[in-house]
Amino acid sequence: MIKSVNGSLHQVLKSFAINNRTIWAANRFWMETENMKNKRYGGRSHNHWYLLLFLMKTFNTFLHVTGQYQRGYNNAKDIVLREMDLSFPNLPEEFNGFTILHLSDLHLDGIPCLEDIILRQLDNREVDICVLTGDYRAALHGPMSQVMKSLEILVKGINSRNGFLGILGNHDSCHMVEPMERMGIRMLINENFHVERSGASLQFIGTDDVHYYYTDQALHAMEAVNDGFSIALVHSPELYDIAAEMGIDLYLCGHTHGGQVCLPGGFPILTHVNRGRRFYKGHWRYKDLQGITSLGIGASVPVRFNTRGEVLILRLNKC
Ligand SMILES: [Fe+2]
Repeated sequence: MIKSVNGSLHQVLKSFAINNRTIWAANRFWMETENMKNKRYGGRSHNHWYLLLFLMKTFNTFLHVTGQYQRGYNNAKDIVLREMDLSFPNLPEEFNGFTILHLSDLHLDGIPCLEDIILRQLDNREVDICVLTGDYRAALHGPMSQVMKSLEILVKGINSRNGFLGILGNHDSCHMVEPMERMGIRMLINENFHVERSGASLQFIGTDDVHYYYTDQALHAMEAVNDGFSIALVHSPELYDIAAEMGIDLYLCGHTHGGQVCLPGGFPILTHVNRGRRFYKGHWRYKDLQGITSLGIGASVPVRFNTRGEVLILRLNKC
């Protein structure tokens, strides 16, 4: 039902020669306004989010009553800087050693001054590019000016040679794109971007969120991949199979928070993904595709148990 409405809206707007970004904005605005979620294999009821909100509030109350809230909050602020080496036989020689700062799930309104904690961890470290894989706020609706101010402080403090790329998550709004681009973040809304170095290039393909706001435009963006080395930026791991099929080399995502509230040993109770649950955290492989699912940095309910938020620096190596 939703897919056919999206499809017909897309066709109508196309017939007026309106560009893809405008079509996307109209569609996502409608979905946000109507609180209409859409996943790849069909629509999702309005009740899903209300049930989740109820469970989150109940859990929050439980933590306060049992005296565990402060411990969980301290855990959530205890963010680690993690470095990871990734090897690829087809990486162009020119990009051997290329570093990517991967920031995901900032939820900047969840933990005060989170941007300062991140900048302290980075300690003015220089990277080749910074990618932001969505969920800049904890709230799903309402004002976002404070979140944008915190994000601007963060971006100004990060030392990135090739700038910033960003995509939207399921907590974000289409109205964030413009202020983020004014900060100097190149937003990829089912679009791609090339980083050039000595005649070689890396292709980045960024999609809109596919957990709540899936449209076929995300698939079309991946179909546009070229034969060179390519990196997909998707908020959640849920398009892993499409990325592998398209011959994408690296898939960077987050969304799961590594489970956020885990049993001892890091076993998650919930991962909030419809597909690809086994890729809920860390470095994974699927066929020829390698992926990284970040544990995220912030949290919508600002507590963590048996998992830590992480600032990731990925180094690409030719093997
Ligand atoms: Fe998310």
